[in-house]
Amino acid sequence: MAKLLVRGPSKLLKGEISVCGSKNAALPAMASSLLFVDEPRGTEFKNLPDIEDVRRMWELLDGIREGNIDSEIAKKIRASILVVGPALARFGSVVFPHPGGCLIGARPIDVFLEGWKAMGAELSLCSSTSDIVHSIPFYKLRATNGLHGCDYAFRIPSVTGTEGLLMTAVLAEGNSVLRNCAMEPEIAALANFLNENGARIYGAGTHTIKVEGRGGKLLKFFAPYQNPPDRIEAGSLAILGGVLAERLVIRNFPSEELPSLLASLKKTGVNFKTENGDFIVERQKKLSAIDIKTKEYPGLATDLQAPFTVLATQADGASMIHETIFEGRLNYVEDLKRMGANIVLCDPHRAIVYGKTSLKGCRLEGPDLRAGLAFIIAALLAEGESQIGNVYQIDRGYERIDDRLRAIGADIRRIN
Ligand code: EPU
Repeated sequence: MAKLLVRGPSKLLKGEISVCGSKNAALPAMASSLLFVDEPRGTEFKNLPDIEDVRRMWELLDGIREGNIDSEIAKKIRASILVVGPALARFGSVVFPHPGGCLIGARPIDVFLEGWKAMGAELSLCSSTSDIVHSIPFYKLRATNGLHGCDYAFRIPSVTGTEGLLMTAVLAEGNSVLRNCAMEPEIAALANFLNENGARIYGAGTHTIKVEGRGGKLLKFFAPYQNPPDRIEAGSLAILGGVLAERLVIRNFPSEELPSLLASLKKTGVNFKTENGDFIVERQKKLSAIDIKTKEYPGLATDLQAPFTVLATQADGASMIHETIFEGRLNYVEDLKRMGANIVLCDPHRAIVYGKTSLKGCRLEGPDLRAGLAFIIAALLAEGESQIGNVYQIDRGYERIDDRLRAIGADIRRIN
């Protein structure tokens, strides 16, 4: 099993690093290829990141046979839920296991299931295919009389839920109105791609999305999909620069998609500026504590919470970290405490970080990709060597992170 060896405290990082293509925009766009006449490779995808989740998504799409989704892959990746809607719309029925993924909370799929039912699909639990050993339920959705448009309100705004139902509605008969939708930029990127290829989706990126259904008529490929830069990777690199860089230039930086993070960084005293799409950041020796609260877009992304918590360990005073989206997303805090951070976990959603503290190297296991990157930042700040195991989790979402960080001066290498 590969490990990352990270040695700190890093000499200050310096140079240029480019933000790769967005993972969370790429995955739904790839899944949407099932809506096209020549799925899945008849469409052209530009700027996809070279990461494990993208590889898993190709394998998943290649393995779909008449609405049967490969359960071994689907159990590994939460984003497998993204192929369910398009597969249902294309094949009229679909069998799939409860999606797997990282351990950041319960992650139910009720809002998806309710939405597909509102479009006329019948839901059953397949007891014959249930993975009894791991007690993972398998679901079957069947649209015996085809799918029809619906007026559906999300109980809570779900990002992949919005993407999944939007894609299904494209092939349904008649019009759909989706209400209380998530507004993350990845949803607008998906809708733009589909609209350029004949779909009629209005309002993506707002809370209400309208879709004119095509009555089962598949899309024809005209325009390639241009994947945007990854706003989460960009934000994480900005945080890294704020605690570790002499001068770091981050290329392809989508600053318009990071309003809340940039406001928070400014408040802590991180020194940065944007220039022609570049983000230039310098470490500030004295950072101020700050309270943050994760929120749906355009609020502070939950995916940036763990790196921000590491930054808070370097700020003077008490910072409250309030994670509102996932109940398991502060689990990594215990590991930061082993590294010497002074953090009080009040409950599964709130932690108080007292800074500034010196960190020391440790053996760590990346529980999910975002905490994994936070561990890399912490390890670069820490005295001595750290070993970060479970690198697969980090490789799921960050392209060659070790090589790219080494190129800007980080002491990080991979061992097998
Ligand atoms: N939820 C339900 N029922 C559902 C669906 C969601 O209760 O049927 C709850 C979740 O448990 C959570 C909240 O709704 O409390 C929001 O979850 P959401 O569905 O929006 O999350 P997601 O679509 O599964 C995407 C990203 C995540 C990111 C979240 C929040 C992708 C592939 N994943 O997940 O990214 O954290 O939105 O912004 O787009 C990551 O990249 O590391 C990652 C976890």
